[in-house]
Amino acid sequence: MIYKTTLFDIPIYKVSVPNQKEIKEKFINEIFPYVDNNPPNNQRLNLYSDYFDGIQKLDSSWIDLYKPVIEQFKVKAGFDKNRKWITNIDAWFNVGVKGTQQEEHDHLGGFPSVLYSAIHYIIFDPSEHESTIFFNPMHQMWLRNMHMTNAEDTLPIDWEQPWHFPKVNEGDMVFFPSYVKHAVPYQESEKRRATIALNLQIYREN
Ligand SMILES: [Fe+2]
Repeated sequence: MIYKTTLFDIPIYKVSVPNQKEIKEKFINEIFPYVDNNPPNNQRLNLYSDYFDGIQKLDSSWIDLYKPVIEQFKVKAGFDKNRKWITNIDAWFNVGVKGTQQEEHDHLGGFPSVLYSAIHYIIFDPSEHESTIFFNPMHQMWLRNMHMTNAEDTLPIDWEQPWHFPKVNEGDMVFFPSYVKHAVPYQESEKRRATIALNLQIYREN
């Protein structure tokens, strides 16, 4: 018998945000008036986002709304409940319209470095919108040799995982390690797609 296990695991966590309704209403009331009356502040990406200049940054009231779900995540991820973990949270919003896209990137960098990142799909129609696409970090190292097999279309499953689209519904939030590269595919839909992205710096108080 040959047994197969996994050498390394790249986790992704999904949760339905408990206060989705409250966050969605706040988003519609506070962010959409700007979107209704202005062009995208990042014209290259055709994107409204306070990550970029020209639009008011989210204030701390938004961070407070995410603290409970982030505490849930920390327990699930295995941070010792009996220790005190300080979590600094950075958050920014994104509103996509027809033609919005985001190139491949990760959320590493800075000091102290970001450990985990998250995306909350606040306004999202699975029949019209696509989730974030996550790229397999092993892809380039491993699949680069595909041409050597002369059989790219009939290789075993191990060779066939260059990316992953998590299945998400409106109100879902995914957490992932900040090193995982990801992108947002070109938006075909006229319907607005809105997310809040978060970076988590987590460290232990001694
Ligand atoms: Fe991102």
